[in-house]
Amino acid sequence: MRRVNASRPPQDAPEIPGKPTSVSRITLSQVMTATDANLYGTVHGGTIMKLVDTCAGAVAGRHSGGVALTASMDEMAFLEPVNVGDLVHFHGQVNWTGRTSMEIGVRVLAERWNESTPETRVATAYLVFVGVDAEGKPRSVPPVLPETASDRRRFQEAEIRRTHRLARRRAILDLRERRSAEGLD
Ligand SMILES: CC(C)(COP(=O)(O)OP(=O)(O)OC[C@H]1O[C@@H](n2cnc3c(N)ncnc32)[C@H](O)[C@@H]1OP(=O)(O)O)[C@@H](O)C(=O)NCCC(=O)NCCS
Repeated sequence: MRRVNASRPPQDAPEIPGKPTSVSRITLSQVMTATDANLYGTVHGGTIMKLVDTCAGAVAGRHSGGVALTASMDEMAFLEPVNVGDLVHFHGQVNWTGRTSMEIGVRVLAERWNESTPETRVATAYLVFVGVDAEGKPRSVPPVLPETASDRRRFQEAEIRRTHRLARRRAILDLRERRSAEGLD
């Protein structure tokens, strides 16, 4: 059974003013060193994922104006390996906002730290952050105001991902309830 969220504001609560996408957009950049390497000599996927989460957390905190926790991270495909000596850039922005949740998109690009060569696209990740109050309960977040055509496209794409996330979660919960009712689990 779903928990009732007592901290949610009533429907007639004053609306929080929106914030343009650019207000919280950031880039986090870091040079990968030997301590980031796996046993094959390339960089640990987990190192990249942690920095993705750090970047998204900074974006979510700036946009929501308070504490925001990682609720989920979509599957993340690595397109190219990252090497020791790469300067890796994590570009993060709010793609979409709901009532208490935000989808943050993070694009990961890499270039050699000491060469002016073109950047390679390493991965893109989508994370859901939820703004929380002092008791850790979800709180309302400002609506994001997309500014460019790309921002509007990302907003629409994020809505599709949200629909799929919720449908998948609902389907799995339904299956578990059915199996439990049948005494299978
Ligand atoms: C994230 C958390 C605050 C959500 O609390 P909850 O009581 O389940 O929240 P609700 O069911 O009221 O959902 C709140 C919002 O989050 C969204 N949400 C919750 N779980 C989600 C998930 N797994 N994926 C995507 N969205 C999710 C809901 O759709 C809702 O969005 P909306 O208000 O914009 O419509 C709670 O699950 C939590 O504290 N998780 C731990 C987070 C954490 O510690 N992260 C760091 C890990 S080390």
